[in-house]
Amino acid sequence: MSEISKFENARRRASKLLEKMTLTEKIGQLSQFGTSIYSDDHKAFEDHFAEGKIGSYLTIRDRKRINEIQSELVEKSPNHIPALFADDVIHGYKTTFPIPLAQSCSWDPEMTEKCCAISAKEAYRDGIRWTFAPMVDIARDPRWGRIMEGYGEDTFLCRCFARAAVKGYQGNEIGEKDRLLSCMKHFIAYGAVVGGKDYNSVDMSMQQLYDIYLPPFREGIDAGAATVMTAFNDLNGVPSTANKMLLTDILRKELGFKGFVVSDDGAVEELVNHGYAENEGDAGKKAFNAGVDMLMSGDIFNDHFPEFVKNGEISEEKINESVLSILTMKFLIGLMDDWKVDENEDTAFFAPEHLSAARESAEHSFVLLENDGVLPLGKHDKIALVGPMARNKRDVMGPWECVGEEERTVTVEEGLKRVFPETKISVCEGCDLETDDISGICEAVEIAKSADLVIVAVGQRHGTVGEAASTTRLRLTPPQETLINEVSKLGKPVVLLLFCGRPLVLTEYRDKANAILCVWYPGTETGNAVANVLSGKHNPSGRLTASFPVTEGQIPVYYNFFSTGRPAVGIQRFEAKYNDCQIEPLYPFGYGKSYTEFLYEDIKLSSDKMTEDGVIDISFTVRNTGKHDGYEIVQLYVRDLVASRVRPVKELKGFKKVFVKAGESKRETISLKAKELAFCHTDMTFSVEKGDFKLWVAKNALDNSNEFDFRVV
Ligand code: GLC
Repeated sequence: MSEISKFENARRRASKLLEKMTLTEKIGQLSQFGTSIYSDDHKAFEDHFAEGKIGSYLTIRDRKRINEIQSELVEKSPNHIPALFADDVIHGYKTTFPIPLAQSCSWDPEMTEKCCAISAKEAYRDGIRWTFAPMVDIARDPRWGRIMEGYGEDTFLCRCFARAAVKGYQGNEIGEKDRLLSCMKHFIAYGAVVGGKDYNSVDMSMQQLYDIYLPPFREGIDAGAATVMTAFNDLNGVPSTANKMLLTDILRKELGFKGFVVSDDGAVEELVNHGYAENEGDAGKKAFNAGVDMLMSGDIFNDHFPEFVKNGEISEEKINESVLSILTMKFLIGLMDDWKVDENEDTAFFAPEHLSAARESAEHSFVLLENDGVLPLGKHDKIALVGPMARNKRDVMGPWECVGEEERTVTVEEGLKRVFPETKISVCEGCDLETDDISGICEAVEIAKSADLVIVAVGQRHGTVGEAASTTRLRLTPPQETLINEVSKLGKPVVLLLFCGRPLVLTEYRDKANAILCVWYPGTETGNAVANVLSGKHNPSGRLTASFPVTEGQIPVYYNFFSTGRPAVGIQRFEAKYNDCQIEPLYPFGYGKSYTEFLYEDIKLSSDKMTEDGVIDISFTVRNTGKHDGYEIVQLYVRDLVASRVRPVKELKGFKKVFVKAGESKRETISLKAKELAFCHTDMTFSVEKGDFKLWVAKNALDNSNEFDFRVV
């Protein structure tokens, strides 16, 4: 049966069921509950089971428990409708993968698709059927802790990862075994909160919204995303969770979204705090009438909607539409026909192929920021491994670790000892991640003194990034800075391993180390991935997808900015720049080093002009002139030189990840479609404009060495 007819068949079965349901039961399908409803006092919710007031649960993490709840609900509720069990499977269920920001630095959407598919399989086996992922919020401000959860600052790249993640979680069509319903979040522009302060307001032009923040959602919806989650923030004064223009006019009418919308946790009642609703009932009504189908979480809909329907403030027809879209999904994934989780089926948790995928994803996510040649590590008799991340099992998993198990984490120490069995590796954390205690630093320095080389494993506690983790200081803790300073005085080769979830200010550390490798939060296979990269088994190929600022005061700093009337080129006083800081970020979008060198040769354009529906193929040879095989990520940037709205100085419009053996070369092509040059005009139409353009085949956003002109005619 085709996908369309499967959808229609599910919808038909759902509408037949809908006819038998009471209003109470219909509203129950719109209500999601957390663990509270089934904790010790779950007896207090007997009526919820008897009247079918529960449509979904979140974060119930055990298939036995899910079966218990489900069988009671199915047995006691009037039409025996099972609940949809959801969870935040963001970068792994049991096997923990690198955080999404790290995964984006691999520039390998297919690898992320594989990670999401594995995560879906492990979660599915444990009874989960819906994940609140992918998070596709574009983030240009590293003060915002949730930058770790998305795919960076660039719209084009985020679109690629959004599509890949939806495909990974959902498979080719909704309803396959070992797959989950996906959820595009947070709709919309949550990453643009003022000051990088979580939950803060967002104020931007609709053109900016359409050019920068909406495309990843459009991509995910085109890829078949089943659900969308609203954002906490207001957009131009109207909270996203009660924003009809967003949730109905744009999401459903313009983007053609056919799934259902769930509020973020608490976002409905928070409309009162926004000053947009008088009370929780008013909040529920406004959110629902704007386009929210399901409440996360609690009884606001159950408690207030019967009255609103009676007095006409909410139409039962609209309730029926929401219930229909939720029931259709339940039929489509087979939940209505078989809700029982097989408690004997292999969970596949930490399966060898899952671990190797996690290791590969981590290896490809690492970004080599500095290297004077000290890496890859040669033969050393004695290595000192110091720093609080040396033996760390928990923080290296990052936030949103779902039900990952820290005891399964391979530490840096374990990884290094596996890869360098003949080397004496002495270990001393020297300090921790939380206190100001520096009493252990002298011991760390002592073991460093007797080593040939020192690896300093430092970073941020996992709780310092993620939700509700905005910060004004993007540095390591003072004890870690002391450790770096003391070790650097020894005159030994120093390799800095940086564990973080956001761009940090590394300016002061640059001259303290011979190499800096940003490993983000690599997950379960941390130690193996770190050792494989330090040893050269995997040549680091990651490229930054979020700019690293020189200092916090430089924020927001991102690569696709507008030229302004006084572009900052550093030749005169009157330019758009700061007088006390360099113009560029410390490390730009697209930046990353390799153990080898790649040359781009013989770059050819299939034409220097194209029509509005045309394409130009850019062919090039990538030559590996070094001694190490490796991946190069060739980036294609464009600039529209003159347009009806000013355009960014650079925009990523293509990339190619190429593996080239040492001494060899490969000929590749990136196709630039004219439609990718479209942008939102002042009259809100969206199209390509004719005119002159430049393009660059580049190593990062600041690389202008291969520049070409072309026209749209
Ligand atoms: C949180 C997050 C959201 C998450 C939800 C459920 O507040 O904003 O991304 O999916 O609640 O945990």
